[in-house]
Amino acid sequence: MDSAEFDGFASEYDQLLRKTLSVTGEDPEFFHEYKVRELARMAGALHLQVERILDFGSGVGNSTPFFRRYFPSAQLTSADVSARSLEVAEERFPGVATSLQIQGDRLPLADNSCDLAFSACVFHHIDHGEHVHWLSELLRVTRPGGMLGIFEHNPLNPLTVNAVHHCPFDANAHLIRSKRFVERYRRSGWTDPKVRYHLFFPRLLSGLRALEPYLAGIPFGGQYSITAVKRGSAGNLTDGPEEPSAE
Ligand SMILES: C[S@@+](CC[C@H](N)C(=O)[O-])C[C@H]1O[C@@H](n2cnc3c(N)ncnc32)[C@H](O)[C@@H]1O
Repeated sequence: MDSAEFDGFASEYDQLLRKTLSVTGEDPEFFHEYKVRELARMAGALHLQVERILDFGSGVGNSTPFFRRYFPSAQLTSADVSARSLEVAEERFPGVATSLQIQGDRLPLADNSCDLAFSACVFHHIDHGEHVHWLSELLRVTRPGGMLGIFEHNPLNPLTVNAVHHCPFDANAHLIRSKRFVERYRRSGWTDPKVRYHLFFPRLLSGLRALEPYLAGIPFGGQYSITAVKRGSAGNLTDGPEEPSAE
């Protein structure tokens, strides 16, 4: 993508997203919190010790307050190609994260320098031909035993597709089928990626949300996550309960 694309949306990003998501009956914060809470639950299931987190494609910092809530003692690094988005994030949440602008084709981070890497709704803005490269970069900067968790829009969910279609900053988006993304994880060196589907019910049907953990294998949720652990010395990882894989 053009690195300046999101510079042009940074100031109005929150407002545009609020409008796009109004059809679900939820505020954007509901979705931002949901993803970080799920990430914390999945890391917790692996007994992963998390001291350093990377938010890849952090945008205007929407996940930042939730990282503080669910990982209160971890250091957060927010990385994005959009300098203006990083500025807006810093204005909204001063001093909470270290901002890193990504220039060129490398993450400006040392090998094995984070315990947990996260990305929400970023890869559909990256040329599909570059996915394996960025997944490999995320593998490089994650320590052995550390985890990557990515959330993406599910192109099999008609409400999601409709929302993307009407969202101005998604004009150049190319959604990714989970199966294809899993193959890209594997090609970039991540082993045993696990897919889970999320966010099946709008606010009107929120009484049914308690069922969502049982639906994680059904490929029609509004979003999906793919998690994987970096193979190598276990480091801070201890055995946790096996979670079912959806694919
Ligand atoms: C839809 S926004 C999502 C922002 C944030 N993750 C959130 O959930 O609110 C997509 C973000 O990905 C960033 N982005 C696009 N290509 C990128 C790349 N190659 N590396 C890092 N960030 C990128 C954009 O600048 C933008 O901030």
